[in-house]
Amino acid sequence: MSKKITFIRNASQLVTLAGSSDAPLTGKKMDQLNIIENGGLWIEDGLIEYVGVDGEVAERYKDRIGEAEIIDATGKLVTPGLVDPHTHLVYAGSRENEFNMRLQGATYMEIMNQGGGIHATTSATREASHEVLFEEGRKRLDQFLLHGVTTIEAKSGYGLTLEHEIKQLEVAGQLHEQHPVDIVRTFMGAHAVPSEYKADPDVFVDKVIHEMIPEVARRNLAEFNDVFCERGVFTPEQSKRILEAGINHGLLPKIHADEIEPYEGAELAASIGAVSADHLLRASDKGIAMMAEAGVIAVLLPGTAFFLMAESADGRKMIDAGVPVALSTDCNPGSSPTVSTPLIMNLGCLRMGMTSAEVLTAATINAAHAIKRGKEIGSLEKGKKADIVIFDVPNYMQLQYRYGVNHAHTVLKGGVIVV
Ligand code: NIG
Ligand code: FE
Repeated sequence: MSKKITFIRNASQLVTLAGSSDAPLTGKKMDQLNIIENGGLWIEDGLIEYVGVDGEVAERYKDRIGEAEIIDATGKLVTPGLVDPHTHLVYAGSRENEFNMRLQGATYMEIMNQGGGIHATTSATREASHEVLFEEGRKRLDQFLLHGVTTIEAKSGYGLTLEHEIKQLEVAGQLHEQHPVDIVRTFMGAHAVPSEYKADPDVFVDKVIHEMIPEVARRNLAEFNDVFCERGVFTPEQSKRILEAGINHGLLPKIHADEIEPYEGAELAASIGAVSADHLLRASDKGIAMMAEAGVIAVLLPGTAFFLMAESADGRKMIDAGVPVALSTDCNPGSSPTVSTPLIMNLGCLRMGMTSAEVLTAATINAAHAIKRGKEIGSLEKGKKADIVIFDVPNYMQLQYRYGVNHAHTVLKGGVIVV
């Protein structure tokens, strides 16, 4: 059978981010996109074969141009497919009632402590069948894809029993199999202390450690293990035990850290060698310095800060301190019900002092590293998967400047046009 060949031609800017597959970009390197003007990109059987100036690519493959499907990107921006490294994709129900309560002064933690918040979504998700969860997740994935997102991470954490956590992870696995968007799974049994264990949270922590983590790992249902380390949820000490249990079972640590209050979450992430620490609105300077030293990726979620009407994490400070920064939606029904990774990039610029180039690095290659996919996706280089977005803007700065608009025009997943 002949190879499927695609040739993307004449991109006004082709953002390659070349040379970033081994490690996330830090400091000034986050601001260097390695752009080719008037670029061309040759794809064979789903993989990138060659990237260069259009005329050079055309000359190199002149004998085979007739075999290629040509995509004309004149006047357009070509980037790696966006990667969203922190979502709570699989859940049932919605919480617009809480949004309305917050608009009238209630806080996120008050609502959660009164049995709403994560608990409300847990009840709805426990009641939902595989089919309902699949269908809800599929709709959100379709929307992610329309915005140019080609890979996401998805957490469990709305089951909070072994049975229902497994149900969420299985649904995420089925979505990965059946939907063009790739999904990387994270177990987050420690997302909240379920109401049944309110009186004795350590009993629940022991269940997570001794029952859930071993079974999830045995069944290969996740690659990462995450915990909501926050006052009133899990303490740093409990979080450490949970993350260490994951490590012992081959699940790589991630952590929801310092979201509402400073709680030494960034410090814990660094000392345990977490792949990423996420949120970090209230991370301490010491914690940030420790993360830079340990190479922990900061996954920043400015949509969550925006939606909770809180001050964003200080992305600028983190980059300047040498922390590799990635961006994500945090897509979830309570604190960030959005699927627009491009909007998050806009907020990264407008609320966290990041440049137009830095947010693109943060939503592609650094996001890929935050889910251990830096060698396969996140940049446009020979041998990488042809996950590509063509935006209908002439340069990467317009992507941020013309904010709040979905500029994704064509999306390729493994070399195939899916949008
Ligand atoms: O990342 N902070 C904890 N977990 C989610 C919110 C989950 C929810 O409210 O349903 C977050 O913001
Ligand atoms: Fe989250």
